[in-house]
Amino acid sequence: MKTSGGSDAMKRRAGESAAEAVTDGDVVGLGTGSTAAHAIRRLGDRIDSGLDVRGVATSFASRELATDCGIPLLDLDEAVGPDAPGIDVAIDGADQVAVGGEESEGTGSEGTGSEGTGSEGTGSDEPAAGVGPLIKGGGAAHAREKLVDAAADRFLVVADPSKEVPVLDRSVPVEVLPAGRSAVAEAVRAAGGEPTLRRAERKDGPVVTDNGNLVLDCAFGEIGDPAALARTLSATPGVVEHGIFVGLADEVHVGTESGVRVAK
Ligand code: 5RP
Repeated sequence: MKTSGGSDAMKRRAGESAAEAVTDGDVVGLGTGSTAAHAIRRLGDRIDSGLDVRGVATSFASRELATDCGIPLLDLDEAVGPDAPGIDVAIDGADQVAVGGEESEGTGSEGTGSEGTGSEGTGSDEPAAGVGPLIKGGGAAHAREKLVDAAADRFLVVADPSKEVPVLDRSVPVEVLPAGRSAVAEAVRAAGGEPTLRRAERKDGPVVTDNGNLVLDCAFGEIGDPAALARTLSATPGVVEHGIFVGLADEVHVGTESGVRVAK
């Protein structure tokens, strides 16, 4: 699995810390990426020790790993809806996490707001107060990740310190219908961004998502108002989903050199 950012030991601490927050009977959203993979493996270990949980995968990769780890799976449609159990907690990685600031307010903010700020944990290096908006989609899984993370009662982000920033400034992954690629690229330029079609690393062609779509990585520089940009992208025809997650995260578990820091 592709990894980015900080060391694998820090990612493992973060993932395992969040997996410890899962309780018996929970339905768990299983995120995508190298940090979330540590949480999935830890949940598998806990199932071996008697924990009773079921997972909802956010990607083909997380489904495969969960199956290998012995985690029983539900489809999202089986987990959410009338007479469905719901998703108690989702654990997912991020490419950037805005910390220490206020969530950008404004109408149309996605999902439910995180409540309160503060940090706790073990082995704190530099404490971060609060968890703000995220950029996700480094693994091109952000459409299903947003569905699952938004549906969960609690969304725990797992990250290493390289992901924490005061202001989001990483390119925003935008999943687009193949036929809408050029039209969406134009709309992104009109919104002040520079779109680049994501290409597969070892193949001569574009990345194709689990949903059969393409990804434009859109550079906007510093994103002063993530909620406003999220609304603009969501309103663009041809956009299936973008990687700005506003008001969804409840906690971030940051693995450090010496422990885990939890910001709420
Ligand atoms: C996939 C994601 C990942 O969660 C994000 O890219 C972080 O990955 P990693 O934990 O490997 O750094 O959003 O779409």
